[in-house]
Amino acid sequence: MTSEPTQTTVVSVDRPTDWWKSAVVYQIYPRSFADSNGDGTGDLPGIFSHLDYLAQLGVDVVWLSPVYASPMDDNGYDISDYQDVDPIFGTLEELDLLIAGLHQRGIKIVMDLVVNHTSDEHPWFIESRDPDSPKRDWYWWRPPRPGSEPGTEGAEPTNWESAFHGSAWQFDERSGEYYLHLFSAKQPDLNWENPEVRRAIYDMMKWWVDRGIDGFRMDVINLISKDELTDGEPPPGRTRVSCFSFTANGPRLDEFLSEMNAAVGLDARNLLTVGEMPGSTIETARRATDPANHELNMVFTFEHVSLDMVPGGSGKYDLVPLSLPALKKNLDEWQQALADVGWNSLYWDNHDQPRAVSRFGDDSPEHRENSAKTLGTVQHMHKGTPYIYQGEELGMTNSYFTAIEHYRDIEAINYHASAISLGLEVEAVLHSLSIKSRDNARTPMQWDDSSHAGFTDGIPWLPVNPNYVTINAAAAIEDPNSVFHHFRKLIELRHDHAVIVHGRFELLLPDHEQIWALTRSLDDQVLVMIANCSSEPASVPPEAIPALAGARVLLATHGDSTTLNLEPWESRIYLLG
Ligand code: GLC
Repeated sequence: MTSEPTQTTVVSVDRPTDWWKSAVVYQIYPRSFADSNGDGTGDLPGIFSHLDYLAQLGVDVVWLSPVYASPMDDNGYDISDYQDVDPIFGTLEELDLLIAGLHQRGIKIVMDLVVNHTSDEHPWFIESRDPDSPKRDWYWWRPPRPGSEPGTEGAEPTNWESAFHGSAWQFDERSGEYYLHLFSAKQPDLNWENPEVRRAIYDMMKWWVDRGIDGFRMDVINLISKDELTDGEPPPGRTRVSCFSFTANGPRLDEFLSEMNAAVGLDARNLLTVGEMPGSTIETARRATDPANHELNMVFTFEHVSLDMVPGGSGKYDLVPLSLPALKKNLDEWQQALADVGWNSLYWDNHDQPRAVSRFGDDSPEHRENSAKTLGTVQHMHKGTPYIYQGEELGMTNSYFTAIEHYRDIEAINYHASAISLGLEVEAVLHSLSIKSRDNARTPMQWDDSSHAGFTDGIPWLPVNPNYVTINAAAAIEDPNSVFHHFRKLIELRHDHAVIVHGRFELLLPDHEQIWALTRSLDDQVLVMIANCSSEPASVPPEAIPALAGARVLLATHGDSTTLNLEPWESRIYLLG
């Protein structure tokens, strides 16, 4: 599985119109993928050594989470130089080698674009700290609340809570003013109202495109246009209000996105663009992905990953059980809304979400493999571009850490501190964290059963999940019935069958508590998917689906049975016509 980087050759790739519709994207979180130098943190040569693995899986695109220069307050989502690679990951030359190595294998590369904010160590912000600097207006500086003592609790310009807990405003002694940070205090928000800021970002993006990349995954891009900076009404028992309600989908979002598209030539060069959009709605997504508007190809919605938290509660750690009909209904609504205009992205997890099999499936030894496969089937049979997060193709599970000392994520650590200070029970806080924390997804990739799962020769920055002894890539490749090979076949199916890419989507049995069933139709072909999304046997009512006489089974978890009785987490894809 290993090969050494040698020299950079620029390999150009073809990007026909709408190529991303038939593509499958694989997300790499570099810190946790593969470590080549034994420092315990994944790096670019580590990724390079596993390119053949990606080619074997058959993915079309790699989305690389940030590898830019960064103080690593938020694992690289706090960038201090957009045009350099952080030494912990390697060098720009190694990134060029990676781009070439991917292109040689016919795989494209999409970079993470984090431009809602920079690091507080970015030269732009360092300059901006000086009140007389021409860059002062590149960030959101505001005086304290009138009549308050600067720097004290309650003196912040608004009562906004940052996404990483605590106030979204940081006091700066030097000027006596506050700056806005929707995430950590080391991630000040850029002021997109200033045209110089936008120009600098577009220039940087063009520089990357010229380096050979194939698109951008845009971090929290729907937060760039801020609405009024005013107070909100906090929920009962709280003093602050979530900043997102004031900053998501702001008044100039569409204008900024289309300006960016034109300035960088995103559509003109057929680049893949996907916007991460917390708080986006079907309406905002339709606008942003309508090709006529030249904004984005697709967005990541958060609706389906918000169904297992208390509606109107205080956030993702307020747990409620997930209802299958509610999940199906939500995905169906997005399918219908983007059927004729725009395009969906399809994902169960990423570096910010718990592991898919632990959250939507059943990660017990009995059901882990089948539920991981069936979730893959359900995802890939919806209409849109599927995103696989590293390890999902192995059915990697949550880490379920039991003590706060195990966590590395700033969001988890801050949540713990703030929840305890609000008087929540320690045990309950730790329980929620073990289910929902982002570190669940960030444990190292499980390559084989050697020490630290073959991820590193050193001490990994986050402990490897002990189940690596059985759940690992080497074992999965050997086993023809593994989750890995199931995902490989799903990707192959998409490449072979236009109905999977373009077919009209219809959800069947919307209210069924166990079965997920759907059809996709194109010309005279009908694809039928039936999936038991539960850990109990279930039967598909025959009248609810098209007659399957003469149907060909394209892929099944349990063999080609023709009965409509399904074992726990059994799923099948049929093709008629
Ligand atoms: C996005 C990233 C997440 C990061 C946040 C702030 O949600 O996916 O990892 O913490 O933006 O950049």
